[in-house]
Amino acid sequence: MSDSKTYAPPSEFSSRAHVKSTEEYRALYERAKTNPEAFWGDLAATELTWFRPFLKTLDWDPPSAKWFPGGKINACYNCVDRHLRTERRTKPAIIWEGEPGDSRVLTYEDLYKLINRFATILMRLKSKTGERAVIYMPMIPELAIAVLTCARMGITHSVVFGGFSSEALKTRIQDLGASLVITADGGWRRGKEVRLKDAVDKALEECPSVRTVMVYKRTGSDVNMMTGRDYWWHEHEENLDSTPALKAIAESGEVQHLDPEHPLFVLYTSGTTGKPKGILHTTAGYLLQTAITMKWVFDLREDDIFWCTADIGWVTGHSYIVYGPLTAGATVVMYEGAPDYPAYDRFWQIVEKYRVTIFYTSPTAIRALVRQGDKWPNAHDLSSLRLLGSVGEPINPAAWDWYYRVIGKERCPIVDTWWQTETGAIMIAPMPGAMPLKPGSATLPLPGTIVDIVDTNGNVLGNNQEGFLVIREPWPSMARNVWGDPKRFQEQYWSRFPNSYFTGDAARRDDDGYYWILGRIDDVMNVSGHRLSTMEIESSLVHHPAVAEAAVVAKPHEITGQAVCAFVTLKQGDWNVEALGQELRQWVGREIGPFARPEEIRFTDALPKTRSGKIMRRLLRELVTSHGVTGDITTLEDMSVIQRLASQHQSDED
Ligand code: WTA
Repeated sequence: MSDSKTYAPPSEFSSRAHVKSTEEYRALYERAKTNPEAFWGDLAATELTWFRPFLKTLDWDPPSAKWFPGGKINACYNCVDRHLRTERRTKPAIIWEGEPGDSRVLTYEDLYKLINRFATILMRLKSKTGERAVIYMPMIPELAIAVLTCARMGITHSVVFGGFSSEALKTRIQDLGASLVITADGGWRRGKEVRLKDAVDKALEECPSVRTVMVYKRTGSDVNMMTGRDYWWHEHEENLDSTPALKAIAESGEVQHLDPEHPLFVLYTSGTTGKPKGILHTTAGYLLQTAITMKWVFDLREDDIFWCTADIGWVTGHSYIVYGPLTAGATVVMYEGAPDYPAYDRFWQIVEKYRVTIFYTSPTAIRALVRQGDKWPNAHDLSSLRLLGSVGEPINPAAWDWYYRVIGKERCPIVDTWWQTETGAIMIAPMPGAMPLKPGSATLPLPGTIVDIVDTNGNVLGNNQEGFLVIREPWPSMARNVWGDPKRFQEQYWSRFPNSYFTGDAARRDDDGYYWILGRIDDVMNVSGHRLSTMEIESSLVHHPAVAEAAVVAKPHEITGQAVCAFVTLKQGDWNVEALGQELRQWVGREIGPFARPEEIRFTDALPKTRSGKIMRRLLRELVTSHGVTGDITTLEDMSVIQRLASQHQSDED
């Protein structure tokens, strides 16, 4: 099975690339494999700036990794301060486009000043190293400033995506015991205001750990401010300007010298249980691998304009809007709003306006735009583009082909990047000047990424066999823990196969050694590239007074890849199922966030269960993906249930 057509790197591209040929890639890969400590140690010494050099590369006591012990470092210093000594001082760090069409450009020097001012403000409000801050903001430059200021001060940040509900926000604040919340009055999304501060107020009714709430004025709408707890960012800026002592502190550029393993951030992600996991990333290793992949995968050059369309609330935004590109001294584009607002050409308009050279987005966004036709991109000058990227789920060949032809004009390689919140940085992806592409394959593992495909018993599988993707060796940007739950970290990732990291993904390798990611094998769904847990949505549904039981499965969806389908049994009562279906969808939207709303709710009088009482989601999954149910169903308690569900499905289709 040597799959599909291949696309060799354009020679023009290769000749100027950081890694120019397959041979060069192989040499790097081999060096990293045979002597990982020297490989990563050399990179850490050259790519990062240290206050004190590290003494060795790694202390590895699985699953505990301590990278670069003995050193002192600061992530914000690496992202900002060190560039001021070079020509990058006046180079744009962030080019920002607001949804209503307002825009701002911040140079590295501007960013430095704004961060130091904000650090002074937070210091005055008694925030300090070792605390946790939750950041709940729209995609405005102050979000990046808040993140970097926390990093500068050694405050562990946790960005909660602005699309999450107050309920989801609350559980994250509680889990972290956060003392500080940084937010805004609201943000713009498709012309409507998302009222963030209202959601914060609601969440904080049950979050006694929070002392301080800093509010940035973005939309200018009325919000409630609690004296002694809530502060306007701009008022503190004004106060700083009129207080010479504070101005002097801001100008001193104080920066914390931190341990390489200092907890940089926690990012919550869905797992196999109802409770999201707080994935912990630390400082030096994370920074190194996000920065080096900017060169390896995005082939970053000094004059690039790099645009990753993700939200900073997800790992892609952390690693490829903030930490990776800024450590590497790049110019990033940041956009506040939706890709289809005010029209379907918003992405292409921004590419044209800022002469974007590297564009990184998700297959879902591509599919949604394919559907609107070529006229939208064709109305814009996209000639600045030289490289395209994809992340979040496997990219289907039709979407790949459109991206390649209509957006990249058959000139731009496409880097399909496989990685996870837990891996911190890209792990399997092409080096675009070095290797031929195959649409739908993330191609080859990057240097230092040692992977295998194994069966359920851990036996290594050969080419063309489907199995579980595991990572054999530690890597610098690997997750260090689940916040407050080391047992879960150990069990979830490091127990299934001895001394190996379990990705939760199925994959296959072809005869050229290329990897084809087949998707999750656990109860995690991938809807529009967002990770959702079936359990989390089920527990939200059973929370509703009308619902007795719920089982959630993913069904295939043309645009979003997968969609949420919920099977629900009701408590006794006289329910209007039509209205209830709507209500339940909104209920989940309120409890988790609008992006988690089930596309379909199917009411049934019973759910298929094993004799021991476990819901057989596999059968439900088959029901929504195919038309019948196959395989072993002898453990089913009540066969008639599945038959009823199947015939209901059939008649819906008729
Ligand atoms: C999936 C996003 C195929 C995969 C960076 C993984 C992909 C999960 C790809 C992580 C890709 C991500 N091809 N599948 N290029 N990229 N995935 O944590 O199932 O939000 O385990 O991180 O997305 O999602 P997460």
